[in-house]
Amino acid sequence: SRQQRLLVVANRLPVSAVRRGEDSWFLEMSVGGLVSGLLGVKGFEVSWIGWAGVNVPDEIGQEALTKALAEKVRSLGLLLDTYVVSCIPVFLDEETVHQYYNGYCNNILWPLFHYLGLPHEDRLDTTRSFQSQFAAYKKANQMFADVVNEHYQEGDVVWCNDYHLMLLPKCLKESNSKMKVGWFLHTPFPSSEIHRMLPSRSELLHSVLAADLIGFHTYDYARHFVSACTRILGLEGTPKGVQDQGRLTRVAAFPMGIDSNRFLRALELPKVQDVIKEIEKRFEGRKVMLGIDRLDMIKGIPQKLLAFENFLEENAYWRDKVVLVQIAVPTRADVLEYQKLTSQVHEMVARINGRFGTLTALPINHMDRSLGFHELCALYAVTDVALITSLRDGMNLVGYEYVACQERKKGVLILSEFAGAAQSLGAGAILVNPWNITEVAAAITQALNMQSGEREKRHKLNFSHVKTHTSQKWAETFVSELNDTVVQQQLRT
Ligand code: UDP
Ligand code: G6P
Repeated sequence: SRQQRLLVVANRLPVSAVRRGEDSWFLEMSVGGLVSGLLGVKGFEVSWIGWAGVNVPDEIGQEALTKALAEKVRSLGLLLDTYVVSCIPVFLDEETVHQYYNGYCNNILWPLFHYLGLPHEDRLDTTRSFQSQFAAYKKANQMFADVVNEHYQEGDVVWCNDYHLMLLPKCLKESNSKMKVGWFLHTPFPSSEIHRMLPSRSELLHSVLAADLIGFHTYDYARHFVSACTRILGLEGTPKGVQDQGRLTRVAAFPMGIDSNRFLRALELPKVQDVIKEIEKRFEGRKVMLGIDRLDMIKGIPQKLLAFENFLEENAYWRDKVVLVQIAVPTRADVLEYQKLTSQVHEMVARINGRFGTLTALPINHMDRSLGFHELCALYAVTDVALITSLRDGMNLVGYEYVACQERKKGVLILSEFAGAAQSLGAGAILVNPWNITEVAAAITQALNMQSGEREKRHKLNFSHVKTHTSQKWAETFVSELNDTVVQQQLRT
């Protein structure tokens, strides 16, 4: 039988484009948990609809990019052993990107959903520009809907993703009420007390409810969503979902995972083994601690640096025997808050290195860049302690990836209790409150001194979780639940 066709709709395509000439494009893998998770999906015929991360005002450029995406994605599919058969661009103009992506999505929804409030210095500006940004958000969601409608075939499952596309389920259902529509949020969904601050709070909830199935990473996020619907919209919430005029929208938790075999396979490659040896040589005689984050305020990078500084202060013995490798991938660089964070982090790294550095060693090895997949695997494999200090994080796949690459070393994972992953990797990780710097510093000491017996035991717990809860299973479960929900709805009517 033919594979189920799946239209994945997300703001971000799995590859992002950089223009090289009038009709020539360079394509690179996009960074982020959404892309990593969804690329692990197998067994469906996937078309991915999204933005290529670049402004293409001219027709020649648009045609060339559309073609380049189609070709690149075929080779990407082979590489990842997925079935992404096509990658379809949505072209957003510059002003829309400014107001919708930089503005409404990343300056309003993102910080709010992560409990960081609205950017405080320009809170009034944010309030003033709210209407125009929300209008752009609507317009952008409609543009995504138009592209979906163009490619939709009867029987397709349409899987909408993330906070960028909260109005999409409604747009789609309005044009075709028979379409099977799912929506999955990759961030936390906050307490209704937070959501209710949004001027567009009701419209967003109503629109998401137009979907047949709504998914979250954790049970808590699902519960928050249902309670926002009862408190803000006055609808009835049941354990199965939300009821609106006799129609039930299913709401449930589907924790995402990774394609762990992809990492295990990569570690066997001679070229990855070579990189491992190189890094080991480079840091010989020192324990390696690792942070891998997009340079985002939700990741708690300044808090992590303060905790590490506190640890060095208190533990003179370790000063020249440990290095913190911090990969900070630049992200959303047009948003002011991210620019401020970048300079803050740079300042702190310089200060701590100035304070504890010696002629031969600096305590922090900081990089503002992304790594290729093979380098990333090698780095995970040589790391003694991974340090994830998110202030809030929908899931955090970096923790999963670290565990997958640690069969040899059995390193320790220090993980924020505010990451969704804490609910699945809590058994083997040391959980910390990232706001408590002395607690994190103590966890670092504990991790560096941990005996191999305990490390093995902790690793084993987490490794078996990561191996069994894959991104493929995640997608299969979500899609089959969506199919079932639609069948049940049809029985009811
Ligand atoms: N990542 C990457 N290249 C890098 C650094 C990170 O591809 O140089 C990937 C990493 O492997 C992980 C994802 O980016 O899959 C980050 O996902 P996570 O869920 O941890 O956080 P998010 O970025 O979605 O907030
Ligand atoms: C998070 C979001 C994704 C987003 C990613 C990278 O994982 O949930 O939707 O794609 O960050 O951010 P960006 O703005 O570059 O797409």
